[in-house]
Amino acid sequence: MARCCLLLLFWAFLWPAASAVPCHPDDLRSLRGFAGDLSGGAVQLRTAWSGASCCSWEGVGCDSTSGRVTVLRLPRHGLTGPIPGASLAGLVWLEELFLGSNSFVGVLPDELFGLARLRKLSLASNKLTGQVSSRLGKLTHLTLLDLSANRFFGRLPDVFDDLTSLEHLAAYSNGFSGFLPPSLSSLSSLRELNLRNNTLSGPIARVSFSGMPLLASVDFSTNYLTGWLPASLAGCGELKSLNLANNTLVGTIPSWIGEFDHLWYLNLSNNSFVGEVPKSLLRLKGLATAGRSSGMVFTNMLLYVNDKRRALEEQPNTITGSNNTVRSGRNNSMSGNDNTVISGDNNAVSGSFNTLVCGDNNVLTGDHHVVSGSNHIVTNSYNKVSGCTNNVSGSHHTVSGSNNAVSGSNNTVSGSNHVVSGSNKIVTDG
Ligand SMILES: *[C@@H]1O[C@H](CO)[C@@H](O)[C@H](O)[C@H]1NC(C)=O
Ligand SMILES: *[C@@H]1O[C@H](CO)[C@@H](O)[C@H](O)[C@H]1NC(C)=O
Ligand SMILES: *[C@@H]1O[C@H](CO)[C@@H](O)[C@H](O)[C@H]1NC(C)=O
Ligand SMILES: *[C@@H]1O[C@H](CO)[C@@H](O)[C@H](O)[C@H]1NC(C)=O
Ligand SMILES: *[C@@H]1O[C@H](CO)[C@@H](O)[C@H](O)[C@H]1NC(C)=O
Ligand SMILES: *[C@@H]1O[C@H](CO)[C@@H](O)[C@H](O)[C@H]1NC(C)=O
Ligand SMILES: *[C@@H]1O[C@H](CO)[C@@H](O)[C@H](O)[C@H]1NC(C)=O
Ligand SMILES: *[C@@H]1O[C@H](CO)[C@@H](O)[C@H](O)[C@H]1NC(C)=O
Repeated sequence: MARCCLLLLFWAFLWPAASAVPCHPDDLRSLRGFAGDLSGGAVQLRTAWSGASCCSWEGVGCDSTSGRVTVLRLPRHGLTGPIPGASLAGLVWLEELFLGSNSFVGVLPDELFGLARLRKLSLASNKLTGQVSSRLGKLTHLTLLDLSANRFFGRLPDVFDDLTSLEHLAAYSNGFSGFLPPSLSSLSSLRELNLRNNTLSGPIARVSFSGMPLLASVDFSTNYLTGWLPASLAGCGELKSLNLANNTLVGTIPSWIGEFDHLWYLNLSNNSFVGEVPKSLLRLKGLATAGRSSGMVFTNMLLYVNDKRRALEEQPNTITGSNNTVRSGRNNSMSGNDNTVISGDNNAVSGSFNTLVCGDNNVLTGDHHVVSGSNHIVTNSYNKVSGCTNNVSGSHHTVSGSNNAVSGSNNTVSGSNHVVSGSNKIVTDG
């Protein structure tokens, strides 16, 4: 016991010593050059970076034995001007470079691609521009590359064959155009791929996802990608989030889309898919009840599963939008127009021009619904209600069936055993 405590004490003394390892003189010179070349928030940075113990400077991390700088982490420092490539080039041990959310301008300095040990490179949310050089392929140790929210344009270089360690690749909200580089298919360690909001075009199937067993998140939304949903996605069993919305994808929605056990976000809206969503979608957690006995079918492809469903795991679900078709759904809350609920129970439906067929215990508000089934509560006006034991209030409804309670005025009631109050027109026996 005593020996153990002594060891701990010993470590406690050693630990600060390790973090205050002397800064390698070459790296000290490079960092001073880096800060000297910068503008904007660099004034504060130069103040913070005083003395010669660069390993304890803000945003700087060193290798504990060699004192070589391995980490430079300066996001949100108000830095402006071009990225000082020549100074960076001296940081030959650099493994992590985080310069996101500054205001860097200009093109990527060529020296960046000489930093052969780089594992993480984030330049997101700057004002960088130009084409991305094919020398990117030299950074073969990259696990993270984030170029998002800049002003890059042109093709994504087809150099991913050599970047097989990449786990996170993000380049969203730029002006990247042209076809998807087929070498993306080589990214066997990939977990996250986000190319949202560019002007990428051509067949989505130029990328094969079959060699990406860890892939958890794909966002290609808001591009001009064409073709069918790539069948190679079917093997990505870890997929949690798939957003292909707002492209020009065609074909039918394949049945394997419902086979992902972990999928909690699916957005295929605003494409040109045809047909109905296959029954396998019922398997999606959150779309199915505990017993997986009921689910939904959406038509017209305003289709998405929103993230709340993951927490709920089961129904009730929330369905918004228009022209959806819900089959056998329970306890759902629907808003929007032109929806159709078939055999649904306990749904709350608002909006207008919805159709409810054969459901029970639904609550409808809004106008111009078509309702059949039983035990509904119908408010507002101009609904057509058939079935039994409905409670109809409001006006200008047309009610048929039996045992309905109708209040309000100017409703037309036919059928039998209704309880009618107000000044309604009774066509047949009440
Ligand atoms: C899409 O990217 C452009 C830059 O290309 C950006 O200005 C815009 O805000 C982005 N839109 C969204 C919704 O992210
Ligand atoms: C969908 O893409 C179009 C360009 O095709 C763009 O103008 C629009 O903002 C995108 N919608 C969303 C929600 O991102
Ligand atoms: C689905 O994608 C469309 C188009 O990009 C967008 O307008 C909509 O907000 C998305 N829906 C959800 C629930 O994320
Ligand atoms: C759907 O895509 C069209 C172009 O194909 C675009 O103009 C429109 O803004 C998109 N709608 C949404 C909701 O993103
Ligand atoms: C729903 O689809 C019908 C045609 O089936 C169309 O007339 C109507 O405008 C659509 N409603 C919306 C809100 O897209
Ligand atoms: C569905 O609604 C019924 C009646 O309101 C309720 O008894 C039941 O617990 C609800 N089920 C779920 C899963 O919310
Ligand atoms: C019908 O519903 C109204 C309000 O929802 C309620 O006050 C009334 O008691 C109901 N009538 C019957 C017969 O259930
Ligand atoms: C019902 O119809 C009568 C005339 O037939 C009209 O005066 C009255 O305003 C109507 N009531 C409602 C609530 O529309």
